[in-house]
Amino acid sequence: MKSAANHNHGDRAAVLSRVRRMVDRGGPRDEILLSVCRLLSDEIEHYDWVGFYLVDASGRRLHLGPYVGAPTRHTEIPFGQGVCGLAAEKKQALMVPDVSRVANYLSCSPKVRSEFVVPVFAGGKMAAELDIDSHTLGAFGEGDKEFLEAVAGTVAELF
Ligand code: SME
Repeated sequence: MKSAANHNHGDRAAVLSRVRRMVDRGGPRDEILLSVCRLLSDEIEHYDWVGFYLVDASGRRLHLGPYVGAPTRHTEIPFGQGVCGLAAEKKQALMVPDVSRVANYLSCSPKVRSEFVVPVFAGGKMAAELDIDSHTLGAFGEGDKEFLEAVAGTVAELF
């Protein structure tokens, strides 16, 4: 069950341990990634859409992978486009407190107010991105950055 208490550090550590166990248990990669999406969406109040975009063979496009939340028409995103494509181009995390201020924003739902994208690096290359949308303006902070980079670092072992 979601609760505001999940903003605190201890609960984040518990969620991260559960991600660790999901990865260690093994199985098909997409099933594990979907379980991670469900876990984050269920446990963290302000995570309203949680999904992975996978870098395709060209190394210049993102393909929508497992996700939880409203269906999106952005199933393929070229590097450089939108928040996800920009993060891919720069190969760095991108925190957007107010999506209405992003010029080439690719809207998934009018309800989304802020977004945070974290790259997943494997073998020195960016293999995927973890994308989180929130219906709350300015929903993300330093705690999310640290937490989501740890989640990305853990699922990176699957690539
Ligand atoms: N908003 C993203 C597109 C992905 S959807 O949010 C799921 C972007 O601008 O890249």
